[in-house]
Amino acid sequence: MNLFSSSPGDKPSRQAKAVVTGAGSGIGRSFALELARRGGAVVCADIDLEAAQETVTLIEELGGKGFALTCDVGKAAQVKNLSVKAQSLLGEPVTLVINNAGVGMGGKFEELSLKDWQWCMNVNLWGVIHGCHYFVPGFKQQGYGAIINVGSAASYTAAPEMSAYNVTKAGVMALSETLSAELRKDNIRVNVLCPTLVPTNIIKNGRLPGRYSGMADHALMNYAMTTSEAVAKLTLNRLDKGLLYTTPQVDAKLFWLMKRASPSLYARFLGFSYRFVN
Ligand SMILES: NC(=O)c1ccc[n+]([C@@H]2O[C@H](COP(=O)([O-])OP(=O)(O)OC[C@H]3O[C@@H](n4cnc5c(N)ncnc54)[C@H](O)[C@@H]3O)[C@@H](O)[C@H]2O)c1
Repeated sequence: MNLFSSSPGDKPSRQAKAVVTGAGSGIGRSFALELARRGGAVVCADIDLEAAQETVTLIEELGGKGFALTCDVGKAAQVKNLSVKAQSLLGEPVTLVINNAGVGMGGKFEELSLKDWQWCMNVNLWGVIHGCHYFVPGFKQQGYGAIINVGSAASYTAAPEMSAYNVTKAGVMALSETLSAELRKDNIRVNVLCPTLVPTNIIKNGRLPGRYSGMADHALMNYAMTTSEAVAKLTLNRLDKGLLYTTPQVDAKLFWLMKRASPSLYARFLGFSYRFVN
C-alpha cells in the first residue's frame, strides 16, 4: 500500500530543491553531489563557507546547480535565515532538507565539561531541531516534503566514553521517529541515517581526548565498511521508498538487532567488554 500521494513528492531525491547542512565535507558533501546527479538544485550550508563553496564547485563540475551559504545550525536565527534564503536562491520552495551537520565528541563522562556538552548538543541535536522547525511549516503548506536527519549508530549503541554524542544522536532518532508518525498524513517523509564508521573529517573536526583521537581516525579511515558516497546513495534510495531507517553497514544492523532482541543483555555485554579495554 502506498501511503503517499503519487506526485509531487513521490521520489523526493529526484529533481529535489534541497538544503543540506554541513555540506562542506564528508557525508553532507556526498549528499549534495548525489542530489545534483539526480537532477536537483542544492543549497550547501556550512559553518565553513569556503568548504561549502568547494562543494558547489564540485556540483557545477557535474553540470548541476548549487549555492553556498554560511550557517551555524546551532543558532536558531541562522537556520531561520537559511530557510528564507534557500527558497529565494532556488527560485522555488524547498522540497528536501538534510539535517546533516554534526560534530564528534568523546571522553569519559567526568572528563566532559558542561561547555563540551553544550557544544555537542547545540550542533548535533539543536541543529536538527532547528532544521525541522523552520522547514516543516513550508512542507505542510505545499502539501509534501522530505527530511533526512543524520543520526548515527550511536543513536542506539550507547558505547562507553561517548555519552554526549550518544545523547544527541538518540535525540535525533526520537525526533525522526516522532515526526515520521506525525507528518505522514501531511505527505512528508522522514528518514534517519544511522551509520557506524564512515571515512570523513569527523574525528579531525571533533573533540576527543588525545589518547584515542589518532586511533579513532585510523579506524575511521582504514576499517570503515562503506564510503560517504555509498551512504548518501543508499539513504536517498530508502527515502524514495518511504522507509524510516537507514543502517548502512552490517555492524550497524547487528548492533540494532542485539539491542532490540535483549536491551538488558546488550547493556551487560557492553559493560563487560568495556572492563577489558580499560
Ligand atoms: N563519519 C562517521 O563515522 C559518522 C558516523 C555516524 C554519524 N555521522 C554523522 O554524520 C554527520 C556528518 O559528519 P561527517 O562524518 O561527514 O563529518 P565531517 O566533519 O566530515 O563534516 C561535518 C560538516 O559539518 C560542518 N559543521 C560543523 N559544525 C557545524 C555547525 N555548527 N553548523 C553548520 N555546519 C557545521 C563542518 O564544517 C563539516 O563541513 C554528522 O551528523 C555525524 O555525527 C558520522
